[in-house]
Amino acid sequence: MLITEKLFPWNLLQQAIEALLMCGIFGCILEEKNAAPIIHAALKRLEYRGYDSVGEATLHEGKLHVKKDQGKIDDVHRLRNLDDLPGSIGIGHTRWATHGAPLQVNSHPHTDCNEQIAVVHNGIIENFDELRTDLENHGHTFKSKTDTEVVPHLIEEILRNNPSLGLTGAVAEAVKKLQGSYAIAVISSEEPDKIVCVRNESPLVIGVNEKDVFFSSDIPAFLPLTNKVLIVEDGEIVTISLGKAEIRKIADSRIVSREPKAVDWSPEMAVKQGYPHFMIKEIHEQPDCLRNTLRVQEHYADLMSTFLDRARDVYMVACGTSYHACLAASYMFSKLAFLPTYPIIASEFVEQCGKSVNIDSTILAVSQSGETADTLASVSAARERAATILGLTNTIGSTLTRVSRVYIGQQSGPEIGVAATKTFTSQLSVMAQLALRLAKKRGKVSQDEMDYLAEKIKKLPDIVQEIILKQEEKTKQMARKYKDAKAFFFLGRGINTATAYEGRLKLMEIAYIPAIAFPAGESKHGPISLVEPGFPVVFVCAKDGTHKTLIGNIMEMKARGASIIAIVEEGDEEIKKLADDYIEVPKDIPEVLSPVPFVVPLQMLAYYMAVERGLNPDRPRNLAKSVTVK
Ligand code: AGP
Repeated sequence: MLITEKLFPWNLLQQAIEALLMCGIFGCILEEKNAAPIIHAALKRLEYRGYDSVGEATLHEGKLHVKKDQGKIDDVHRLRNLDDLPGSIGIGHTRWATHGAPLQVNSHPHTDCNEQIAVVHNGIIENFDELRTDLENHGHTFKSKTDTEVVPHLIEEILRNNPSLGLTGAVAEAVKKLQGSYAIAVISSEEPDKIVCVRNESPLVIGVNEKDVFFSSDIPAFLPLTNKVLIVEDGEIVTISLGKAEIRKIADSRIVSREPKAVDWSPEMAVKQGYPHFMIKEIHEQPDCLRNTLRVQEHYADLMSTFLDRARDVYMVACGTSYHACLAASYMFSKLAFLPTYPIIASEFVEQCGKSVNIDSTILAVSQSGETADTLASVSAARERAATILGLTNTIGSTLTRVSRVYIGQQSGPEIGVAATKTFTSQLSVMAQLALRLAKKRGKVSQDEMDYLAEKIKKLPDIVQEIILKQEEKTKQMARKYKDAKAFFFLGRGINTATAYEGRLKLMEIAYIPAIAFPAGESKHGPISLVEPGFPVVFVCAKDGTHKTLIGNIMEMKARGASIIAIVEEGDEEIKKLADDYIEVPKDIPEVLSPVPFVVPLQMLAYYMAVERGLNPDRPRNLAKSVTVK
């Protein structure tokens, strides 16, 4: 195999491996050594992608050997010794649960009925339900609640009907039936000399050195073993055998010849995929996380909108950034579904509403970690009064999922940076979809409006991608200009009051600059007295029904010498000419969706402010993430 020395530019590599950050898969075919210790060590390097459960499968003397359990890698290793499996061929998985709680039965690898085929998977198979039903009708028995388990049974069924296809052929046929995102690796005791991998909208890279071949969700896993990387693109299937990796197009089985490239990353850089901090990496992951929110499970989203429809009163309870998502959602539910809801800061819930909650009340608790104490305390207080608990979280298996009647997993993947970014925009996207579903259920929106909004929600990932691409540099310069400011105001109107609050939280949390946010209509009730010449005031200016009045607020601040920083829609000349600095977001974004694109420049502004002030955005002082893996 020809290996060229030309270094691969890291940003192109980033693009090649960016995408869905959930679960980590790894595997290898080694010339000499046992695979299990290599797989174990590699999964440790992938643990930041998911830490609910871990598992390995190896092939030895024509037999499949599987070890898997729920829990963090070190705990499972202590119990079951993940280095102790025979064979130099193997696959492994560290999980971030999306379908099925983090239990041993739901951990990967998953196998077929005869325990001959083992599969690890990263991604979401949207049509797993109907595939499962069909396979059960063909006599297959399922053990887990996962979407992934349909894959080994599908391959088994295809090989049963057409053994001449061989493993690679059967895997190619199987994935043609899958909808969703997936990076999958398959081994079989019937063909014990190969690993077959496929990629579709989920990261997969191949590592090669003189003798061994590795595959992984990303480069950190095999970087200590080789820095020679072979990129795999969506719609490709790779057959790995000793010292060889053959790539073919799934559609027409055409062979793809591609040369491995060398990367010059330190392991630490690799985990951040070349980004200087997890926060900016996670800001860049938002387009893919938003795509994932479009794949939340229909069934549960429908169930949740039914509970909301039936509720006499709906309290949305959360802390920090999640509370800001609730605040924005209260505008969405009211404007689309005519449902009044009460966004409540969790630490005040019991005092503010404790007595008025009862059996007819519904609590929608929002928490990316699913473990925030004040939010859980509110939930248990409400449960004591027989209220119905609904949950929106990013952490399957968290306490919130266990105390909720129905919950939705937003599927943003682990968020390592303490400052919530990708989980916020994903919460907003899920809330907008829920509000739209409820509006349809209540007949409050026409089919045309439904289709229009649904189309726009689908476009959000590309819109956010465009903002990051076009405005990151400008936001960096703006941060450089205002890094020594003593304080900031953040103002918004309507639904973007929530966006202003979020912009403020981010700036205070990681750049340590005092900041006040308030509905622009409140300017005259206190804040305006603080304004002096050059005082930076950030305005979130969506082109909605509040646009005119917001211009009035800008004039008020400008008249007192404030420096106006405006987040505006492209082509909004009226406000651009009033602003000292402005960031543009694409236009024609429906009002109820506008916090998603409008918050991204504020996230980047806070990030670059912290960097300009020499601070570590990932480790803000006086704070810790509810759940982190280091
Ligand atoms: C946001 O950047 C902060 N990390 C913090 O305010 C956070 O939003 C809050 O602690 C809520 O966390 P949760 O979503 O995990 O409940």
